Amino acid sequence: MADSNSGGTQSHKLWGGRFAGGPAPELEAVNRSIDVDFRLWPFDLQLSKAWAATLAQAGVLTAEEGAEIQRGLDVVARQIADGARPTAADEDVHTLIDRLLHEAIGAPASRLHTGRSRNDQVATATRLWTRDACRRLDGLLRDVQRAMVEQAESLTDDLMPAYTHLQRAQPVLGAHWMLSHFWPLARDRRRLTAASAAAGVLPLGSGAIAGSAFPIDREMLRGMLGFEAVSPNSIDAVGDRDFIAEVLFALSLLGAHLSRLGEDLILFGSSEFGFVRFGDAFSTGSSMMPQKRNPDALELARGSGSRMLGDLVALLGTLKGLPSGYNKDLQEDKRSLFDAVDGMSLLLPAVAGSLASLTFDRKRMRAAVTSSMMATDLADYLVRKRVTFREAHGAVGRLVREAEERGVEMTDLPFASFQVASSAFGEDVMAELRAETSVRHREVAGGTGPAAVRQQLEAARGELGAA
Ligand code: ARG
Repeated sequence: MADSNSGGTQSHKLWGGRFAGGPAPELEAVNRSIDVDFRLWPFDLQLSKAWAATLAQAGVLTAEEGAEIQRGLDVVARQIADGARPTAADEDVHTLIDRLLHEAIGAPASRLHTGRSRNDQVATATRLWTRDACRRLDGLLRDVQRAMVEQAESLTDDLMPAYTHLQRAQPVLGAHWMLSHFWPLARDRRRLTAASAAAGVLPLGSGAIAGSAFPIDREMLRGMLGFEAVSPNSIDAVGDRDFIAEVLFALSLLGAHLSRLGEDLILFGSSEFGFVRFGDAFSTGSSMMPQKRNPDALELARGSGSRMLGDLVALLGTLKGLPSGYNKDLQEDKRSLFDAVDGMSLLLPAVAGSLASLTFDRKRMRAAVTSSMMATDLADYLVRKRVTFREAHGAVGRLVREAEERGVEMTDLPFASFQVASSAFGEDVMAELRAETSVRHREVAGGTGPAAVRQQLEAARGELGAA
């Protein structure tokens, strides 16, 4: 790309007339944001085309000037798509596009920046980028959810322990456990949709701070750019980064959910649990230990949540110190936003692939369900025979202790022991010690009963179908 302007004071600037000399190289270096914001170019071009159309419609540009600028912006779009890149002298993406537009069409380019500021421009471009990013992330999240539903479908008849305090608690269906990771992602998707809606308020037309001085039709702009509303206050519009905070919060919480999923699977994949085996394509080896099969993607899922959290905290820290209106501190917003979205965009496909390539060891899962996990069922059995729950809890507790002391499963205790613990125990008590019976009792909505889980799967499939 021709670059006649490189070298500090000669560079193409959108400002500078009021200064006798050029900025110090140290200032230019710290001020420059092109390395971060270059990726906004398709959106900056999109909003510039809409802006040019609006200026022409308002009579600020002649029809010919408007058409010439539209043509020039198309040329610039093609140039960048074909590989034109910023030079060291381009301050930010807006300056770059302005320079390329001048190089493409000459004088009429100078009329495009009428009535707008980079303040409303960057806010608009960032919002357009964010809405696009939320759409992409939603698709990636759906892929993860789809992998979960497919695994859940294969686990509808398989029992495993559910854990509280990481201690064996009660038996559940494998599908129930798998879907416990599905619903948090459904909420994450809703949060991202809400953040996208927050981003759907148009700042363009706010100018630098007080609103554009030209009679442009903001409703027309809104329609052209696909926003849902027009910002009601220009001071607020140029400083509002709530939508970024909302995206970063949604991604931080999503990071926490992926971390929890990752941790479950990492544990379940250890030799000690042995419930799952990680697929070859999503396992790494060790440079030293030939036997290793490491779940790196899941460990990174666990680890990278803290990065998104850091991005959120960085943004909130920036926003907290500011007066109203645009302040240059806000330039840092994109660093956090892009980092979190990039991180998630890498992570989600790797998590989806890791999930899809898992194989479950159903025998090991079943074998981990021990009879003491049916202690609650035994107590419930007594309650059905009109024993109070408090009394039942004590009676079953004694049986658990007896089995522990003898080093046997509760199923191996003689019936006499049950009768000593409570006279309400009948011969049918042994059926209550079966995990299959335990889950069958739990057909409450949202419970692990086989029919309830089938309904849950139906609902999950419905979520996937929803746009
Ligand atoms: N690169 C700047 C940013 O990202 C664009 C806005 C510059 N506005 C200004 N008044 N200097 O925030």
